Amino acid sequence: MATKTSPIGIIDSGIGGFSVALKMQQQLPHENLLYFGDGGNMPYGNHSAEEILTMTRYMLRFMEERGVKALLVACNTISCLIDRYRGDMTCPVLSVVEAGADAVSQMAVHKVGVISTCFTHSTRCYPDLIGKKAPDKEVVSHGCPDLARLVEANVGDPAGQGILDADIQANMDALVNQEKIDCCVLGCTHYPLVEKNIQRLYPGLPLIDPADQMAKTIAGYLQENGLVNDQPGKGTLDIYTTGSVEEYREKAAKVGLNPVTSVQDYPILKL
Ligand code: DGL
Repeated sequence: MATKTSPIGIIDSGIGGFSVALKMQQQLPHENLLYFGDGGNMPYGNHSAEEILTMTRYMLRFMEERGVKALLVACNTISCLIDRYRGDMTCPVLSVVEAGADAVSQMAVHKVGVISTCFTHSTRCYPDLIGKKAPDKEVVSHGCPDLARLVEANVGDPAGQGILDADIQANMDALVNQEKIDCCVLGCTHYPLVEKNIQRLYPGLPLIDPADQMAKTIAGYLQENGLVNDQPGKGTLDIYTTGSVEEYREKAAKVGLNPVTSVQDYPILKL
């Protein structure tokens, strides 16, 4: 039975969900967070739907066993498929794609760009969901074959910024200069970790990080259900990964997560 002090679960294929954990630490600082990053199987965006579902089930079981009071699917790629598992979970499950579509449907813009993994792009989950919530908007979706992996490898590393900038431009130049989008949804949770690069390359282009809306939605749910953690101090952040503990510890610090209570190893599900 979930209580006020139960953690909120956050899952991603890798460190992309750190962008969601950051918003949670900023907007709901007293909540305890439990993070799972499947670093050993990342990137998910290049896997098949069946493989993504198998890996997701593994993470969902981990979260259920630890009694999370809500689960944030901090991976757009997984969010496109998460409806298949919603009924199996005892806690509410929030999709970052739903949050992104909610955010953009409230904005006074017409032509919406979405950058995401190729898998997310191929499902058309953003155009479909935005189309349902705000049929007046035009959505231009673009899949970035390698950007999530490059962010994972280079975030916070001065020597890697040139590689990141070049890949961002290869993926976004046409959206900005030819399609002339009014705003861009960062439809992969890795991308907000390089939001400053995107802002520098395309000054004035409004960027939508779905995590802002996700934090608002979960705050409302906790309030309505008497589940707000009212502990006086900051909440904990325990990170589990099937990847490298050292790398996760280092990257968590680089992106500004604070506190990081623990970083632990978890056995990988071999496909
Ligand atoms: N961070 C993930 C997302 O939001 C995916 C990255 C990957 O391809 O593993 O889609």
